[in-house]
Amino acid sequence: MTVPADTHAKAPPKSFHVKSFGCQMNVYDGERMAELMAAQGMAATTDANAADLVILNTCHIREKATEKVYSDIGRLRKNARLDGRAAPMIAVAGCVAQAEGAEIVERAKVDVVVGPQAYHNLPSLVADAAAGAPALDTDLARLSKFGRLPARRKVGPAAFLTVQEGCDKFCTYCVVPYTRGAEISRPFDALVDEACALVDAGAVEITLLGQNVNAWEDGERGLHDLIRALDRIPGLSRIRYTTSHPNDMREGLIRAHGDVESLMPFLHLPVQAGNDRVLKAMNRSHTADGYLRLLDRIRAVRPDIALSGDFIVGFPGETEAEFADTLRLVDAVGYAQAFSFKYSPRPGTPAADLTDHVAPEVMDDRLQRLQAALNRDQQAFNAATLGRTCTVLVERRGKLPGQMLGKSPWLQSVHLMTDAPIGALVEVELVQAGPNSLAGVKRVRAAA
Ligand code: SAH
Ligand code: SF4
Ligand code: F3S
Repeated sequence: MTVPADTHAKAPPKSFHVKSFGCQMNVYDGERMAELMAAQGMAATTDANAADLVILNTCHIREKATEKVYSDIGRLRKNARLDGRAAPMIAVAGCVAQAEGAEIVERAKVDVVVGPQAYHNLPSLVADAAAGAPALDTDLARLSKFGRLPARRKVGPAAFLTVQEGCDKFCTYCVVPYTRGAEISRPFDALVDEACALVDAGAVEITLLGQNVNAWEDGERGLHDLIRALDRIPGLSRIRYTTSHPNDMREGLIRAHGDVESLMPFLHLPVQAGNDRVLKAMNRSHTADGYLRLLDRIRAVRPDIALSGDFIVGFPGETEAEFADTLRLVDAVGYAQAFSFKYSPRPGTPAADLTDHVAPEVMDDRLQRLQAALNRDQQAFNAATLGRTCTVLVERRGKLPGQMLGKSPWLQSVHLMTDAPIGALVEVELVQAGPNSLAGVKRVRAAA
């Protein structure tokens, strides 16, 4: 569909830059967009200010995330003006594109708007825009994009693979069911093929992605069957998956944590709040106690599992006593890491109509107290791993000469001095713990 606007024909772009905001699925989509544009013969640039085409792959989850898009567009145009260059062509992709559609063209006069399920059409949309017609495609036609994307190129040692998209849970605060559409799983065979292609392209670890990744299914198969199949791919040493919903954490998946060696001992399992009235108002369809009992079952098969979560403070009507339940739940779990956010009302969601807002200063105070508790637990988790020997997947160079950075099985950042290359799995002893990372030393086996 084309949207009438007062833009003019532009030279077709020769170079492009993709900037992704938001979740890991956007990072994955951004990589696939870059592969798509490169396959058209366009050159990727690392500098947004030097590109003819800038693709902003956006996030709509909180108001702040959405506002970033508009400030970025303003800055790109201003920098071009200051440098005496023509303004770049701007394509808005991702969840803001899906949610706002033509509004973005109105408000920011961008050239292309393309939703998360339609970006395989980017080349033709860019061509339309170059011909002078701003182009919009926010079709939610499900999964058709995957069959129309070029093959995977070179990837880093830790790669993402989207296996499931969309969400049917409709938590009352959340835009994802509207921006990504209904839950849908990619077929088993396509995923095994893409995983093999990723390993051929350099991946040692694959993180399976989905808004509700543990709801993935193909016929009788559940996520654990997919994990067991990927476990058999030679060269694939580590498997992770994110983000899971507590209600889709089935027995087979829990069991896989006990006996699939390549499945890393880490689980991101958001709970959002620790009070049942608030959980109900959020439409989370689980209780705080149900969540804790689920964690008990997972810890029974994998006692060292590192747990991670997401929290929202200041949901409308949340009282101090209700918030205290969240702190209690945090104390009971002992998270290895977690993300916490102030509630942000999102247009079109049921919670946006609630009027009993929590005052901003109360939200600030609760967020601070929650984060203090989460930081305390993260440090305690890191300290508890000191002295342990584990493998670290080397992902990139550190700041110091000879220093490399990687991840432990528990997803901790570890720095170490080593001549091992990127992509190597190094056996290290964890010897020092800071608030956000650990130091490892290469383990040298004593001569027999
Ligand atoms: N599908 C995942 C992730 C959803 S978005 C899940 O269900 O967990 C990531 C996180 O953003 C959510 O877990 C939630 O903590 C937060 N979030 C979503 N909507 C929000 C809102 N309106 N205000 C503040 N935080 C929000
Ligand atoms: Fe949003 Fe809830 Fe779906 Fe997660 S489960 S994406 S928070 S609606
Ligand atoms: Fe944001 Fe969309 Fe991901 S709203 S968190 S980019 S699914």
